[in-house]
Amino acid sequence: MKQELYSTLEAQLNALIEGEHDEVGIMANAAALLHEAMGERFFWTGFYVVKNGELALGPFQGSVACMHIAQGRGVCGTAWKERRTIVVDDVELFPGHIACSALSRSEIVVPLIDGVQRVRAVLDIDSRNRAAFDDIDKAGLEKIAAILSSHLYNS
Ligand code: SME
Repeated sequence: MKQELYSTLEAQLNALIEGEHDEVGIMANAAALLHEAMGERFFWTGFYVVKNGELALGPFQGSVACMHIAQGRGVCGTAWKERRTIVVDDVELFPGHIACSALSRSEIVVPLIDGVQRVRAVLDIDSRNRAAFDDIDKAGLEKIAAILSSHLYNS
């Protein structure tokens, strides 16, 4: 069921970005698409973009968030540094977690990697519930991130 939802989202995302090249517009629509489709499950859905040696807040859906994150800091900065998806079941147990909202309980951060293996942005999703992200979410969101990276950075 959730797997089918991700397949639908992938198809919708491909249709939305076809012929489009603006990073802000594409990320804004991708955040809206995911956030709306997941309803209550996703509390914050958005992007941080690598800019001037740090992560800068990009397009998102949800409450106001921190604007700058250093490499290696928090879940986003760690996903950037380690160039891999990080799933945190309980943010209170993640050393250095950046609490943008006290309501956030678990999160997943997926890097967007370009053709020369550089992280260009991260997709960050937070939930109010502990352990909200399973392997289906991880695979689905990695596919979404791969579609975005190859569209934005590899062409
Ligand atoms: N939780 C993130 C910071 C960004 S906000 O959640 C939107 C982190 O620790 O990287």
